[in-house]
Amino acid sequence: MAIRHFLTLRDLSSDELNQVIDLAIEMKAAKRENRQEPLFAGKVLGMIFEKSSTRTRVSFEAGMAQLGGDALFLSPNDTQLGRGEPIEDSARVISSMVDIVMIRTFGHSIVERFAKYSKVPVINALTDDYHPCQLLADVQTFVEHRGAIKGKTVAWIGDGNNMCHSWINAAIQFDFKLHIACPEGYEPNAQLVEEAGDRVMITSNPVIAATGADLVTTDVFASMGQESQQQDRLEKFAGYQVNHQLMSHAADNALFMHCLPAHRDEEVSAELLEDKSISVVWDEAENRLHAQKALMVFLLQASR
Ligand code: CP
Ligand code: NVA
Repeated sequence: MAIRHFLTLRDLSSDELNQVIDLAIEMKAAKRENRQEPLFAGKVLGMIFEKSSTRTRVSFEAGMAQLGGDALFLSPNDTQLGRGEPIEDSARVISSMVDIVMIRTFGHSIVERFAKYSKVPVINALTDDYHPCQLLADVQTFVEHRGAIKGKTVAWIGDGNNMCHSWINAAIQFDFKLHIACPEGYEPNAQLVEEAGDRVMITSNPVIAATGADLVTTDVFASMGQESQQQDRLEKFAGYQVNHQLMSHAADNALFMHCLPAHRDEEVSAELLEDKSISVVWDEAENRLHAQKALMVFLLQASR
């Protein structure tokens, strides 16, 4: 059987993604009710981090431990990756010793090259282009609060970045409408937008994007690796803050999500972020744990 990787949401079929979401919801209940099985006993996850992380590291590491497995934190500072050992060589060596690998890095081609030479499933834990694990948690969170996301409308406000690209893939795979509002020059990848067809609408007007949306979501103006553009982006993204005023254009029971970390009063107002009647960001963060456990169960089973 071929090894299954999760480099983008397009690596699983729509049915498989929905299975993972259902399993995540079930595994969350199992954890709450203290009836988790040691599904990862004897399994080791290799975690390669070339960028910072709180949620991703804690959720993968805790998830393995809770189900009887182990996780290795590998940073470029103390592995040969940081001293220039080719990714293809690292992939062959690391995947001969662990059962599954997750990578957070810069260029998306790095995870593709690693996966090509890996003997075990590889998970993209964020690249400059995509953040698919976050979308599993986001869709799970929507389903838990509002039911099926199919046919709903999501508004993305801000940068056409890795999160925005994964929202586009989610719109394709889970079959919902995505309204994207971004400043000129910060639009998402044009080919990806074209692939999404009429599921995706792009505007530079946040009010147009938010109008009637069942979910409004955003992310930092400057992502990891773009720190030097922070000041410039603060000016370019003026008017793209998600706040109660913008939410007033959305559907009556619309939710707010943010992958976190958030910059209060930049891309989201502090009041909205803390408004428990609209903002589900803490559930969304917790669901990284459950969604990724379900993803690892799926990939390990499917690659056997
Ligand atoms: N949302 C997310 O991936 O958070 P971390 O950068 O803390 O992992
Ligand atoms: N777009 C952000 C997401 C962080 C989870 C970044 O890449 O830094």
